[in-house]
Amino acid sequence: MAFKKIAKIQEIKEGKIYSFSWKHLDIAIVKTNNEYYAFEDICSHDGGSISEGVLEGDKVICPRHFAEFSMKSGEALTMPATENISVFPVRVQGEDLEVDVGD
Ligand code: FES
Repeated sequence: MAFKKIAKIQEIKEGKIYSFSWKHLDIAIVKTNNEYYAFEDICSHDGGSISEGVLEGDKVICPRHFAEFSMKSGEALTMPATENISVFPVRVQGEDLEVDVGD
């Protein structure tokens, strides 16, 4: 595990998708129902920036060809995506939002 400070929690508004970079990773962050989620910001179908898409409940919809993913599990829910995206553990430490970006 390697939790890294990615954002201040005040920066993350409910119901919006934010994009952050950590080294080689593009990470999308969402706050919904007072919970934070972090997932890969690269669509498994053809590399679309998922953070430019739309939230719908627990799903996020890629803006390019409209594949839907679970933002909780990363599961690809609809075509044309057939592969899941990565999700990352998130924690709040004081005023900071930290994401486990791995090693
Ligand atoms: S790039 Fe996301 S659905 Fe095609």
